[in-house]
Amino acid sequence: MALNKELIDKIVKVTSKAAISCHKFIGKNDKIKADKAATDAMRKEINKLNFNGEVVIGEGELDKAPMLYIGEKLGAGGNLDIDIAVDPLEGTNFVAKNLPGALSVISIAEKGNLFNAPETYMDKIATSNEVPIDAIDLDFPLEKNIRNIADSLNKDIKDINACLLDRPRHKEIIDKLNEMNVKMKLIPDGDVSGVLMVTDKKYKVDIFLGIGGGPEGVLAASAIDAYGCKFQGRFLFEKEEDISRAKKMGIKDLKKKYDLNEIVKGDSIFCATGITSGDLVKGVDLIDNSYITETLVTHKSSKTCKIFITEDIIKT
Ligand code: FBP
Repeated sequence: MALNKELIDKIVKVTSKAAISCHKFIGKNDKIKADKAATDAMRKEINKLNFNGEVVIGEGELDKAPMLYIGEKLGAGGNLDIDIAVDPLEGTNFVAKNLPGALSVISIAEKGNLFNAPETYMDKIATSNEVPIDAIDLDFPLEKNIRNIADSLNKDIKDINACLLDRPRHKEIIDKLNEMNVKMKLIPDGDVSGVLMVTDKKYKVDIFLGIGGGPEGVLAASAIDAYGCKFQGRFLFEKEEDISRAKKMGIKDLKKKYDLNEIVKGDSIFCATGITSGDLVKGVDLIDNSYITETLVTHKSSKTCKIFITEDIIKT
């Protein structure tokens, strides 16, 4: 059974409810409480849906986190077996500090179609659908990727915009981009949004690159699949503990570079609801007795890439 369009509204409700549950924590400098609220709301909503779901990307494993953990079974049962990737609160600092860009994020696919990823870092690269598939590669030198993108887009290198997390680990990349006179968008957090910015010229990002969370990488790959954009990721297993967990999950080649279609096979539905307003969607707004939310939805098979606005009336 396929992921039909009727499921979209239901998944939008999952992230909207999670986003709304965070609203009261915006600017309260408590990322733990905000994350817990989003997680609890998300679990409650997913458990109303008629499928057999299993979390493949979540917040740690059962023994590590009382959150939506990898392997957790969700859903109200039915004939559809689903893989679920979640980040109930992507950008915990953004909510805690009342900064733009916090999202509640989910992706679902049929069983076996979403990469079962451990919680390690991932080296990522993404670009728009106007760049040929073989023009960028994690194994190319940075200069080659930038030059290929510039050639494909018929731009000067000085007009290329690269987005990456503003982290000390990216110093070498940042220095090289500077040398090349490439413009940078250095984001403080939130690389699911960062990757999504390659999808539309209005965001003025030609390439996303650098190291961020592995789970966020899988979610971002699912998000941009419907746009036909390019994504590659390579997990970075540094600690012994990560290596043994990866092996337990069935990852044999720890250095493997994954293309988008190896991370997300077939169809998927991705939803990201704004908690605080950012480049992609507006945050939760409380107007009179209703919460208004904006959710970016992508669904590959129905070629849906649009923003859904929902109203949630507070019951008195
Ligand atoms: P949280 O919402 O869990 O705080 O993650 C925010 C984030 O910026 C992600 O978007 C990104 O993938 C990851 O953290 C990067 O990790 P680090 O802060 O360790 O560089």
